[in-house]
Amino acid sequence: MNIQENISLKDYNTFGIEAKARYFIEISSIEDLKEALKLKGYPELFILSGGSNMLLTQDLNRLVLFINLKGKALVEENDKEIVLRVMAGENWHDLVLWTLEKGYGGLQNMALIPGNTGTAPIQNIGAYGVELKDIFAGCEAMEIQTSKTSYFTKEECHFGYRDSFFKKEGKGKYIITSVDLLLSKKEHKINMGYAPLKEELLQQGINTPDISDIAQAVIAIRSRKLPDPKELGNSGSFFKNPVIPEDDFKKLKKAHPELPSYALGNQTHKIPAAWLIDQCGLKGKRFGDAGVHKNQALVLVNYGLASGEDILNLARLVQSQVKEKFGVLLEPEVNIIS
Ligand code: EPU
Repeated sequence: MNIQENISLKDYNTFGIEAKARYFIEISSIEDLKEALKLKGYPELFILSGGSNMLLTQDLNRLVLFINLKGKALVEENDKEIVLRVMAGENWHDLVLWTLEKGYGGLQNMALIPGNTGTAPIQNIGAYGVELKDIFAGCEAMEIQTSKTSYFTKEECHFGYRDSFFKKEGKGKYIITSVDLLLSKKEHKINMGYAPLKEELLQQGINTPDISDIAQAVIAIRSRKLPDPKELGNSGSFFKNPVIPEDDFKKLKKAHPELPSYALGNQTHKIPAAWLIDQCGLKGKRFGDAGVHKNQALVLVNYGLASGEDILNLARLVQSQVKEKFGVLLEPEVNIIS
């Protein structure tokens, strides 16, 4: 096992923030992981995967484990469905494309989400009407303290909107090593309920899309709105869409009749943070090398040399302006590492 020192993490985080890891180990096997967890005399662990949902605000005086476990295997199959086991370090979008090539359905609405498969359950990634939980069968995770591997069923993961057991009770305690996905071989479930997706398909003249049509439409929408991290550093949506109670929603809607919203059915409403930010006139604004993306106000971007602090200061400015105008506190979706 190779323990490297003072490694730049710039290429390991999609924000493209310059920060150094005091110690860095690339984990390519379960044995490596077990060995690394037994190391003594090193600073606190930091588990790094695709680096697509974090903001580094300073150098990490920590022992960084870069989870680069690779591989896919069919673990169950009948004439209708398969369970595919995917190792944590597999890139999510490459996986989506691979399943489509093989004719497996389930991941098509989640094309082009940055990051790796192992971190997908942590925040229950989702887009265009589908969340990971909809096709999740289970995952294996190693407990950091004991190096013991356990299997978590879907119920045990307590999935919610951009939320799971691994962000709450299990936070900092486990490393997900593989994820099992339940995919269809035929009679694929087509979900085109998300209005912009339906519009895109209709514009392309497609009324009865197959799984590849859905993926292509999602890729087209995302490419238009969301910056490619390889060209412009970002971490996707920086904030969660706030969920607010009925009474607050009614007041807000009265003051701002054009407020878009989505009723969740339990006396709460989800409102688009992007709209709130946009209404504050912040869309496309740039402060040094930190900015609010010009096509999607929920995405903060690094034009090149922004530090983590620069992005964080911008996030605070966005929060305070939205709070002042709408009385709503935006909660970061991205993990802020300090
Ligand atoms: N809007 C604006 N201004 C903007 C952008 C959007 O007013 O600059 C309004 C539009 O009216 C639109 C609404 O906000 O109706 C929602 O926008 P959009 O459909 O782009 O989705 P979102 O709520 O901003 C969420 C996810 C994205 C996911 C899309 C599509 C969260 C925090 N974000 O964004 O996920 O791709 O829906 O399903 O839930 C991510 O998590 O990193 C991410 C990109």
